[in-house]
Amino acid sequence: MRKAIDSPFSPGSDTVPQVWAGRSAQLSDWRDHVRPRRIAGIHERGRTILGEAGLGKSSLVRRIARSAAESGDWVTPQLRIPSGTDPLKRVAAALLVLAEQAGLAASREKKIAQLLKRVEAVALAGASVSLRRASGPEPYTELTNLLIEIGRAAILHGDVMVMIHVDEIQNISDEDVLSQLLTAFGDALTHEEPVTAPGGVQFDRALPLAVYLTGLPEFLDMAGARKGATFARRFQTTTLAPLGDDDLFAALQPFVTEGWEIAAGDAGSERVFMEPSAQRAIVDLTCGEPFLFQLAGERAWYADTGTIITADHVMIGWRGARDEAEGHVQRILERLPDRERQFLESMAALDPEDRTLTTIAQHMGYGKGTEAGPVSQRLDRQRGIITRGKPYTFRHRAVEAYLTTDWPDLS
Ligand SMILES: Nc1ncnc2c1ncn2[C@@H]1O[C@H](COP(=O)(O)OP(=O)(O)O)[C@@H](O)[C@H]1O
Ligand SMILES: [Mg+2]
Repeated sequence: MRKAIDSPFSPGSDTVPQVWAGRSAQLSDWRDHVRPRRIAGIHERGRTILGEAGLGKSSLVRRIARSAAESGDWVTPQLRIPSGTDPLKRVAAALLVLAEQAGLAASREKKIAQLLKRVEAVALAGASVSLRRASGPEPYTELTNLLIEIGRAAILHGDVMVMIHVDEIQNISDEDVLSQLLTAFGDALTHEEPVTAPGGVQFDRALPLAVYLTGLPEFLDMAGARKGATFARRFQTTTLAPLGDDDLFAALQPFVTEGWEIAAGDAGSERVFMEPSAQRAIVDLTCGEPFLFQLAGERAWYADTGTIITADHVMIGWRGARDEAEGHVQRILERLPDRERQFLESMAALDPEDRTLTTIAQHMGYGKGTEAGPVSQRLDRQRGIITRGKPYTFRHRAVEAYLTTDWPDLS
């Protein structure tokens, strides 16, 4: 019997979902690229992962962080920055915990003890700490210094990475503070640490340090405004696309082939299966959205107590999820500047083969196609909602489904 509490689906909750789909490029980037290179002392940029709400940015980096922690790395929790707060405080506090893990707190070096004291002051007062202090380095420089010390400790320890995850970075609205935070990370990432190889040869190496930033695409405007070139040299930015149907399909395949194991009290364990038609239905309704995938799965699970999830259960469940699914897409559209939303609506109103810049611009009431150029460029390059091919197509499949079909209504 399947009970609500046994559902492995987790819409909205801030954990790594048990039913995981895709993102293999990003997972392998960490496993095969960032981690081994940095551990070997080779420079590798920080990573910025952006995308519209619900695309799985936080979950992705949480998953990377979890696997890092499992292999013994020193990892901060997801440092979510609430709007209007000082991120330096948050990061300082997290670095103090890493310093503890790195054994720095026990260090008898006076220099380190003093550094920890100064970072404690930053954790309390944030960027404003310098106002109350006549001299000494800027607060963000203290963060760099502590990061370097933690990195040194990691080198001495051997085979361990330091990993930092700052989430909701678009909430850092103070341009100076953002610039300070990016500089603190960037300086630590590019730091050259002199070391001596076993044979006595001296060389400079990078610290075993990785920085992941996640947030909404608007962040690019903020980071790009003044610090554009420096930021790009220090961070590699990816805009997440929706999940592919093949990945979603594969994620549900264990339900179909061997069943999903759930605890069954004294009786040991039991398995919940899924009909292939139910698997297909969930994938179709999801439109590539990780959040909707969890939602559709959860509602199908809740729709009945039997050990087989059927296509009927998916449909019954979806009826209850319909408003939430619609709200999810509406929130994405509502957040867009008027002209970007109008662009999408005009694009949706045209037949797929007529979706060229000129025709869309005409539909929007512009004289020339080029007038809509910047808007279309943002929707493509920055937000990843459309692809400017010949013709233009939607990359965000739930936005497309919402604007061009009856979805989320069942036909
Ligand atoms: N790769 C994935 N496979 C399956 N579900 C996912 C995946 N990534 C995220 N999710 C689910 O999608 C929802 C939104 O994920 P989240 O990471 O909070 O998105 P974002 O941070 O981009 O807003 C969560 O319910 C999460 O469990
Ligand atoms: Mg998030």
